Amino acid sequence: MTAFGATEVLNQGPAQQEFLADVLAGMRQPNRALPCKYFYDERGSKLFDEICELDEYYPTRTELRIMDEYAQEIADQIGSGVRLVEYGSGSSIKTRILLDHLDSPAAYVPVDISQEHLQNTADVLNAAYPEIEILPVCADFTDRFELPKPAVEPSHSAVYFPGSTIGNLEPEEAVSLLMQISSLCGRGGGLVIGIDLEKDVSVLEAAYNDEAGVTAAFNLNLLRRINRELGADFKIGEYEHSARYNEDLGRIEIDLVSQTDQNVTIDGESFEVEANEAICTEYSHKYTIDGFATLAEKANLTLHRHWTDESEWFGVLHFVTTS
Ligand code: TRP
Repeated sequence: MTAFGATEVLNQGPAQQEFLADVLAGMRQPNRALPCKYFYDERGSKLFDEICELDEYYPTRTELRIMDEYAQEIADQIGSGVRLVEYGSGSSIKTRILLDHLDSPAAYVPVDISQEHLQNTADVLNAAYPEIEILPVCADFTDRFELPKPAVEPSHSAVYFPGSTIGNLEPEEAVSLLMQISSLCGRGGGLVIGIDLEKDVSVLEAAYNDEAGVTAAFNLNLLRRINRELGADFKIGEYEHSARYNEDLGRIEIDLVSQTDQNVTIDGESFEVEANEAICTEYSHKYTIDGFATLAEKANLTLHRHWTDESEWFGVLHFVTTS
């Protein structure tokens, strides 16, 4: 058994230049939008961890219960000697369940956009699993990134993509990301993915409009970050958090709604924002198991097995690459 020392995070994340370009592009559109991947600065990541603990926010808890109950079955499906790549590793509770049950994994590769969070996860996991090589990569997983090579040759690769984060992409974007995953894993590869399922609108809307206002703070933090890091002057107190379910498109639409007519300057460019104008910050698509499997087929991924909770609020799906 080898013990691996302290890990160094490989930084392939987007630069500030790209952050600015993305924000400007989003603000120039007729229907304004700010890309949700920028939610996760240090404060954003902490607020998101708080969201996961909220009574109203059922996805994290439900997924965790499924992972707990079926960990051995899921690990058996993934198989031995795997290089396990996790997308959006965040905090590592679900990962630990998998790592506890996997048979001789070759390496664990957490991929996350937040450098601080990633370093933290890597340090914690390194201490807890000295026998597993941890190879963190700081990157936006929707971009292409290099997979680090473990010291031990893996028998195959599998991606673990929990949290229903794929729901934050539009269906066509989800298909391209799934295609990237199937080519990254190649023949014999697998994908274990968490999917939030369709359910009662009142349950869905409550999950994104918590009483304590943590979700609102998380949403507004994006403007704080833009002000701080890009020198913009959003009047943060004049925006309100909004989250509504769009039944036709099967998604929660998360917005920041300006309460007044106002002007915002970003990098010398001025934008007029009208009262009641909504700036979209995120979609969260909800799927059925069959609906998602049909989507994944387009990316050469075949549904192999799936696990749900008793209310069928959340699904953990295992796909294999079709050669
Ligand atoms: N991936 C999470 C989800 O769609 C992200 C999230 C939860 C979120 N609550 C939010 C994003 C509120 C923006 C605002 O469930």
